[in-house]
Amino acid sequence: MSTVDAPRSPYARTQRSGTNWEKWGWMYMRASGVVLVVLIFGHLFVNMVSGEGVRAIDFAFVAGKWASPFWQVWDLLMLWLALIHGANGMRTIINDYSSSPVLGKVLRGAVFASAAVLIILGTLVIFTFDPCPSVSPDQLGMLPSFCPPQ
Ligand code: HEM
Repeated sequence: MSTVDAPRSPYARTQRSGTNWEKWGWMYMRASGVVLVVLIFGHLFVNMVSGEGVRAIDFAFVAGKWASPFWQVWDLLMLWLALIHGANGMRTIINDYSSSPVLGKVLRGAVFASAAVLIILGTLVIFTFDPCPSVSPDQLGMLPSFCPPQ
């Protein structure tokens, strides 16, 4: 059974050379956390508080936002930073709690695969989004005002 080292026991370096990925992961969690506070609260304020508030959110609202490269980059950063942050956090939890090395590998693989799929799909949605799709006449009102008449 393993025990926790006494608080004043000497620091035992387990890795002598090469990149210390655990250290960079630790730094990434803090740096991305700070940036995410700005991105998430900015996102919530613009979508739910400013202007008409939450009642304004519909297809045209999203289309209008993604017509601007500023909001495309904002949402892209939020997507990438939050998913990498969440996946790395889940990796830490799996390392701490998984009872067998094989289970740990499987769970880390599942977290990595789901984060990768969501990052790829989300990025595609942001950059291939069509703000003016062809719709039936009764749905024309849902399109943004800048779409040409159909
Ligand atoms: C509001 C912005 C956020 C801030 C300031 C923040 C900050 C942090 C920090 C500093 C840690 C490291 C804690 C530690 O090492 O003990 C952490 C861990 C974690 N974060 Fe975030 N985070 C934010 C948003 C998110 C989001 C959006 C997700 C999900 C996608 C998320 C999921 C996690 C997970 C799963 C962990 C690991 C928890 C653990 O080790 O017990 N966080 N967060």
